[in-house]
Amino acid sequence: MHKLLLIGSQGQVGRELQRCLAPLGELAVRDRTTLDLSNAAALRAAIRGERPDVVVNAAAYTAVDQAEQEPALALRINGEAPAVMAEEAKKLGALLVHYSTDYVFDGAKDGPYQEDDAPNPLSVYGRTKLAGEQAIGAAGCRHLIFRTSWVYGLYGKNFLRTMQRLGREREELRVVDDQIGAPTWSRMIAETTALALRQPAADGIYHLCCAGVTSWHGFAAAILAAQNWSGRLSPIPASAYPLPARRPANSRLDNGKLQRLLGLALPDWRSALGLCLADQAER
Ligand SMILES: NC(=O)c1ccc[n+]([C@@H]2O[C@H](COP(=O)([O-])OP(=O)(O)OC[C@H]3O[C@@H](n4cnc5c(N)ncnc54)[C@H](OP(=O)(O)O)[C@@H]3O)[C@@H](O)[C@H]2O)c1
Repeated sequence: MHKLLLIGSQGQVGRELQRCLAPLGELAVRDRTTLDLSNAAALRAAIRGERPDVVVNAAAYTAVDQAEQEPALALRINGEAPAVMAEEAKKLGALLVHYSTDYVFDGAKDGPYQEDDAPNPLSVYGRTKLAGEQAIGAAGCRHLIFRTSWVYGLYGKNFLRTMQRLGREREELRVVDDQIGAPTWSRMIAETTALALRQPAADGIYHLCCAGVTSWHGFAAAILAAQNWSGRLSPIPASAYPLPARRPANSRLDNGKLQRLLGLALPDWRSALGLCLADQAER
């Protein structure tokens, strides 16, 4: 039987992975309280102690704007910790599953990004996530890196939950309309990860996001419509909502490579949002 070690089990994706990975073998989990990724020695010891066949890293420094003020810490978690995981995975002959982001790109491309398009991150967060990808590639362990985008779900801090709260509190909202991408439900990421682990040929970088495209404004409109919000939602340019970290205008990721590998079709972002909201309503 396979032994899996899930690191970052309390994040949006990590919580969904706990369920989706459970049937695949013996699952050991670590969250920030039991494994701090800023401690490289503790990370090595955890992997050596568990001797897993698969390490799944769902932990990351994801505070995109705060990273501009804490580049060293962001690099330690997003760049150096994955390097340690990759070294240890290589020694064990284990597979390392890791997640990365649309923010490794600058968004200047006209059309969806493919896996081999040149990265050019605009932010500290994007640069540290790219450093993690590169360290894993350089270590030479078997690996799967899933670049995803605009992650939301029923847990943690995310755009869906923020918009639902603002919809309850306000009657007028302004949301950025000139950044486009695909909102991706954390459960889709976890379920697709579990499917990929059943595919022995899987190796390398894959884009993993829902199908279709929208803007943050379009995503907000769909969320607010689902809660029958009767307020006024206005589109604004990103320049009218300045943030410390620059974001790409185009976050579209082409997920054809992953779909061909696994023989599946990732749902359109609207369908996935509907499934997520149905799940929320049942609780
Ligand atoms: N969220 C997005 O929109 C998005 C988009 C593209 C790619 N991704 C990538 O997808 C992956 C999963 O993201 P997510 O949305 O699930 O992120 P998340 O909800 O922020 O979860 C990240 C987890 O990592 C933990 N963590 C942070 N620093 C740590 C440390 N020093 N030691 C141990 N654990 C630490 C966090 O703990 P605390 O909660 O205690 O800080 C949290 O549980 C990440 O690789 C992320 O870069 C995310």
